[in-house]
Amino acid sequence: MIVVDRLQHRFGILDVLDDVSFEVGRGRFCALVGPSGCGKSTVLRILAGLVTPTGGRADIDGRSVVGRVGQAAYMAQRDLLLPWRRALANATVGAEARGLDRRSARAEALALFERFGLAGFEQSWPHQMSGGMRQRLALLRTFVAGLDVLLLDEPFGALDAITRRDLQCWLDEFLAEHDRTVVLVTHDVDEALLLADEVLVLSPRPGTVTARVTSPYPHPRPSALVTDADFVSRKATILAALAQAGPPAG
Ligand SMILES: Nc1ncnc2c1ncn2[C@@H]1O[C@H](COP(=O)(O)OP(=O)(O)OP(=O)(O)O)[C@@H](O)[C@H]1O
Ligand SMILES: [Mg+2]
Repeated sequence: MIVVDRLQHRFGILDVLDDVSFEVGRGRFCALVGPSGCGKSTVLRILAGLVTPTGGRADIDGRSVVGRVGQAAYMAQRDLLLPWRRALANATVGAEARGLDRRSARAEALALFERFGLAGFEQSWPHQMSGGMRQRLALLRTFVAGLDVLLLDEPFGALDAITRRDLQCWLDEFLAEHDRTVVLVTHDVDEALLLADEVLVLSPRPGTVTARVTSPYPHPRPSALVTDADFVSRKATILAALAQAGPPAG
């Protein structure tokens, strides 16, 4: 489904990605972890068709993503809500852009507001919502877009631990029932291993894949998995690869 092959990227003289390769099969979940500034968001922005890589290949469904915005639902690291649209109208923006039926997109979004802890805020403006609420709304919008590939850039970053765990469980259960292909960027190794089928560790900039750790447990997964001996040993492998990576490139 997703093929990234010897991907390279420079912003001017800044070497950001060096030879990144990975594949994500249909319905599979891949997590990217790595030090700040190593190019994780850049990988997602390339897959979203927003950045043209300076080398290598990135394909979704056998076609290059270059210049093709809208092949995947992308949740940016910053929430990017539209300040002039109320919450519900923000939630359906991706669906509308794709020409999906507005009524059914609204109905689908409304049903998710409660699950995301946003019930009662359907008609609020983004500036009336907290940072965590805005982030949940941006995540909700990604699901309502009706696309098979989800690109999630630290979707739980601004949430407290309990809400974060709750939404991780929701995502795991949702994906067990819906066939979506996901690339998730996170700094949380537990989150990566709990949600993903494979975790890739990137080196400091210029980013390259230094470790690949599979997470072979059936979905949906119980929270208690984090104390399982096999889980802990996979986590140790990832942490060791991150430690080897050294301090963040900034
Ligand atoms: N549009 C841009 N123009 C120039 N440099 C950029 C641009 N976008 C990102 N960079 C630089 O590329 C490098 C990688 O950025 P990126 O956002 O991909 O890192 P990241 O791994 O997502 O970091 P973080 O974990 O802090 O979110 C950084 O040094 C950043 O300053
Ligand atoms: Mg980032």
